Amino acid sequence: MSRVAYVNGRYVPHRAARVHVEDRGYQFADAVYEVIAVADGRFLDEDPHLDRLDRSLKELRIGWPIARAALKQVLRETVRRNRVRNGLVYFQVSRGVARRDYGFPKDARPSLVVTARSAAPPSPDPGPGVAVITVPDIRWKRVDIKTTGLLGGALGKQKAREQGAYEAWQVDDDGRVTEGTSSNAWIVTAKDELVTRPIGHEILAGITRQTVKKVAADLQLAVVERPFTVAEAQAAREAFMTSATSYVTPIVSIDGKTVGDGKPGDIARRLRAEYLRAVAAATPFV
Ligand code: PDD
Repeated sequence: MSRVAYVNGRYVPHRAARVHVEDRGYQFADAVYEVIAVADGRFLDEDPHLDRLDRSLKELRIGWPIARAALKQVLRETVRRNRVRNGLVYFQVSRGVARRDYGFPKDARPSLVVTARSAAPPSPDPGPGVAVITVPDIRWKRVDIKTTGLLGGALGKQKAREQGAYEAWQVDDDGRVTEGTSSNAWIVTAKDELVTRPIGHEILAGITRQTVKKVAADLQLAVVERPFTVAEAQAAREAFMTSATSYVTPIVSIDGKTVGDGKPGDIARRLRAEYLRAVAAATPFV
């Protein structure tokens, strides 16, 4: 089956989907995006993702390309046309096409691009867990805005892959973990407290992070929001990452050092299973 993309009002064959060379997303990464997981036909945490898109757009003073309700329809239609039952929908809004000039154009119309692709259905079983490496956080100072300026993360992810790891945890100038290249970072202490960095300009406020906080509260697990160092993470009882595409994924080694007993921890396993159950239950088919 051939894939279909949505580009500014039209559904087009994926291989022919184009934006102009002077689109500001292309030239300045002057664009924001979201990724929503689709599980069994449901859009997981759709409204929080749209709320975060709204915040990103407001921070950059880009207008909505179409109304929120219309965007929801386009997301559904793109998923439908690509026959995605499990997978993800990606959507990106740029400031639009304009003569190249750093300042904002007066009359550009925001561009909207939507794609969808299939992936394996989420399994409550996390498998064997994953390895992460650490890299210096070389990104700009407003990574709370979900822009397409992802080169820092791309370089970190590539380094991880070259070293046989799944993700890179980025580390600030004080030796404390900010977040993964495309995920939030968590550890579990010897007291069974979940620790993750507080929201601020140095991390993206992950939607999965937010939902996992609620799930943890339901399971009566304490969540402490504070930075942690690489050494603390390596010595932690458990470590895991969260994102729309990885859900809750246990981490079993950090820079080659085994975390816990080298197997996915009990808390990460429970959180993953409960997250998948809770987020599906809270998401109607619409
Ligand atoms: N990435 N931190 C960063 C830097 C991210 O890029 C992401 C998501 C997250 C987790 O956010 P959420 O739980 O809302 O997915 C944290 C998406 C999945 C991506 O770029 O593909």
